[in-house]
Amino acid sequence: MKILETERLILRKFSCDDWKDLYEYLSQETVVKYEPYEVYSKDACKKEAIYRSQQDAFWAVCLKENNKLIGNIYFQEQEPEEFLTWEIGYVFNPIYYGQGYATEACREILDYGFEQLNARRIVAMCNPENVASWKLLERLNMRREGHLRKNIFFKCDEKREPIWNDTYEYAVLAHELTKSIH
Ligand SMILES: CC(C)(COP(=O)(O)OP(=O)(O)OC[C@H]1O[C@@H](n2cnc3c(N)ncnc32)[C@H](O)[C@@H]1OP(=O)(O)O)[C@@H](O)C(=O)NCCC(=O)NCCS
Repeated sequence: MKILETERLILRKFSCDDWKDLYEYLSQETVVKYEPYEVYSKDACKKEAIYRSQQDAFWAVCLKENNKLIGNIYFQEQEPEEFLTWEIGYVFNPIYYGQGYATEACREILDYGFEQLNARRIVAMCNPENVASWKLLERLNMRREGHLRKNIFFKCDEKREPIWNDTYEYAVLAHELTKSIH
């Protein structure tokens, strides 16, 4: 995995030592609210950092000024490979919200996907209630292509009944996004 650099950020592979920074945000209910998992314990973060350090799909997003890991991006090729389609996802530490870091990091990954990995189409999915998430996708010039109704559940209510969620599907094609329009 390469190391990518933006004006304020370094995007790199995870290392086992990243578990503390991961714990800082994955331990928060508000951060995992729309994710397909519950809050992480310290032990779970230690395992997760090891797991991610062995994967190419997870990018650790760090501040250039002090190497602090402030979030992560998931970027994975979809099956079948011939479709040249990749999915992007992201989770950041709330301390660093509202400063454009997620936009800056995701934009770099989109460029990397199109320019270096030969991606043809990049997609993202989010819950319509997760306004910060779809606003980010729109800042990235991704297009809302679908609104799926009650298609998925990640969590159950107190009666252990599924909580069904809608999904917005976003996408952008290679020729639609070039560095010149950023
Ligand atoms: C989704 C998530 C990454 C978005 O974070 P964010 O802080 O809103 O996004 P950015 O870092 O790009 O910051 C954008 C905000 O900073 C502002 N901003 C400040 N400087 C900026 C700059 N240089 N460039 C772009 N935006 C800037 C923008 O105006 C925007 O503010 P607004 O929300 O009031 O319009 C964050 O909410 C998160 O991690 N949520 C929890 C995990 C999650 O739900 N993930 C998605 C699952 S689908």
